[in-house]
Amino acid sequence: MPDLISGDRRAHLYSLERWQYEALDISLWHERTEYMVALLRRYLSNRGEQDADLEILEFGCGSMALESMLREGGFTRARYIPSDCHARDERTLVLDLNAPDFLDSVPAVDVIFMGGVLEYLDRAESVLDALSKKARYLFFSYCPRVASQTEADRLGWKNHWTPGEALAIANDLGDGVMSESGFDPSAPKPVHTYFVASRNWWRPELAAAAGPLPKIHDRPVRCPSG
Ligand SMILES: C[S@@+](CC[C@H](N)C(=O)[O-])C[C@H]1O[C@@H](n2cnc3c(N)ncnc32)[C@H](O)[C@@H]1O
Repeated sequence: MPDLISGDRRAHLYSLERWQYEALDISLWHERTEYMVALLRRYLSNRGEQDADLEILEFGCGSMALESMLREGGFTRARYIPSDCHARDERTLVLDLNAPDFLDSVPAVDVIFMGGVLEYLDRAESVLDALSKKARYLFFSYCPRVASQTEADRLGWKNHWTPGEALAIANDLGDGVMSESGFDPSAPKPVHTYFVASRNWWRPELAAAAGPLPKIHDRPVRCPSG
């Protein structure tokens, strides 16, 4: 089968510059974010933290749909901190997760949130490991490699973990993982999510109070909209 994508187009798909011009207001991404907010609400409710003064740092914030969804999802006291490789507004913490020294500018927060970002990173596993030192909880999505996918389905993505590999990586990050795969975009791009209680707590007193999470495959939640 001939390569129908030109070298230039291929290089563009893997570049950081692409994100300066890419459309970010994508309904499927927003549905994923809404779904993740509902899950986050449940995970934090289970730990008695749903109404806490949480700092939630979003990497790859894109259009920042998360900000209003957090408010609408009941996180009225949360402080939202957006970050992206390009400035999305004047608040954006501009940072390239592929840069070797990116961690130096990451503040310690309660929750790090990443939806649809890991797939674009050169060293996604070490980025997750580094971020686990900066937050009590990591909450991220990942589109794992499944048998029904073609190479074209994963074009532009830089890593290709299977569901088992992604879960093993998440398990290694902390003292417990809630993993979920109920969000159902059109096949063949399943979305899995991972809520990790980080092992490297920045507030040890809260770690003792919260305790470890069980390693279970969670049941899906219903999105507020559907
Ligand atoms: C698929 S979009 C998802 C946007 C948003 N999270 C959402 O779900 O609507 C990927 C986002 O990751 C950002 N991104 C891509 N590569 C990045 C990098 N190396 N460092 C930081 N952000 C990056 C892009 O600018 C973009 O905002």
